[in-house]
Amino acid sequence: MKAEKPVEWLKNTRGPASCSREKVGEIIPPGISRRTRELHRQLLGYRMSPLKGLDRLSALLGLGNIWVKDESQRLTLNSFKVLGGTFAIYNYLKQRLGIEGEDLPFSELTSPGTARKLGDLTFAAATDGNHGRGVAWAAGRLGRPAVIYVHQETSPSRIRAIEASGARVVVVDGTYDDAVRRIREDALKNDWQIIEDTSWEGYEEIPIWVMQGYTTMFGEIQEQLSAQGFIKPTHIFVQAGVGSLAAATIGYYRGLFGPEAPVSIVTEPDRAAGIFESARIGDGRPHPFGGNLDTIMAGLACGEPNPIAWEILRDCADYFITCPDYVAAKGMRVYGVPMEGDPFIVSGESGAVTLGALMFIMQHPQCGKLKKELNLGPRSQVLLINTEGNTDPFHFRRVVWEGSDPVPFEYRSI
Ligand SMILES: Cc1ncc(COP(=O)(O)O)c(C=O)c1O
Repeated sequence: MKAEKPVEWLKNTRGPASCSREKVGEIIPPGISRRTRELHRQLLGYRMSPLKGLDRLSALLGLGNIWVKDESQRLTLNSFKVLGGTFAIYNYLKQRLGIEGEDLPFSELTSPGTARKLGDLTFAAATDGNHGRGVAWAAGRLGRPAVIYVHQETSPSRIRAIEASGARVVVVDGTYDDAVRRIREDALKNDWQIIEDTSWEGYEEIPIWVMQGYTTMFGEIQEQLSAQGFIKPTHIFVQAGVGSLAAATIGYYRGLFGPEAPVSIVTEPDRAAGIFESARIGDGRPHPFGGNLDTIMAGLACGEPNPIAWEILRDCADYFITCPDYVAAKGMRVYGVPMEGDPFIVSGESGAVTLGALMFIMQHPQCGKLKKELNLGPRSQVLLINTEGNTDPFHFRRVVWEGSDPVPFEYRSI
């Protein structure tokens, strides 16, 4: 049997002309990262996550630089996801208190007077793991209960990590998309407030805040890059589950650089590729990716794109790619055992796929055409986001220690 190709790709034929800076700015307004950072700075334990350069690997691959924003070091939560949940909860509470414009210190949300004004309030979220963990953590900080729905394939360690913040976890049949459907019904019955990282008709404001919250990362990246003498990345590989992170990334850079924004490559697992599938169908609408979404990239195992994110990706992304699991597994091993002189990075399945994809694109003849189209070479400053660390220790060891999901023989580079 022939192995699956490491990378399937699709150029976005709508082209940059379809990407309206104004339209994107309605979701990711210019300057939003200053506001999100003002909030995130107030969280206990906040510091910028590091931006690490893989100089030796860049030289091996023939690239100018590979920059890795390492979100395994985001607070104590091992993932960027908490940035979205906290910003959404903060804005929701501000709105509920009737506070407009003026800034409200995060600590004020736990004061007895404010708590009384807010009354009983339970937060709820459906998750592949990381978003729910972030919402549970934020609710815990605010002394509020949280109920988090996970799907049946969620690993015990992910569930334990959510429970550690005091949240109640409910396991539901089906996939992430089924968990979202279930929580919508149950939240209505129980009067819970949903903080979701995807949107549906009539539920848009909170997911937009979630997307905006992610821009803290990019504000930090720009500061870190300019400290090294660089203005911007030339290419960004960004993972997509429901597409909120990818849309926030592309929206942020469009706002900052307009048509000079970095080339974006939206990366999904081949078994959960709702964005790629929607782009392939090409009728402008989001389409679900069916099946059981059976991939080791648990954080990306979402079939139904976030409709708001999809509109940005449809109009503004440059390339859509999909990768099989062995690409993510290779990325995890390379991050963990880097070339001499490069920093080592702990990266989980969903965090590592973009490094795996970049390596195949640079090294394997099957991807030669894409490498050329992307114009990847010695002048390229490639940005990757290690979106998660070791969020599922059992599976992490299976890949890194025991070598599961090996690169098929025909796609080995050495
Ligand atoms: C580790 C990790 N990376 C990337 C993503 C993708 O984010 P989005 O679902 O917004 O596309 C997720 C989503 O949960 C995730 O957990």
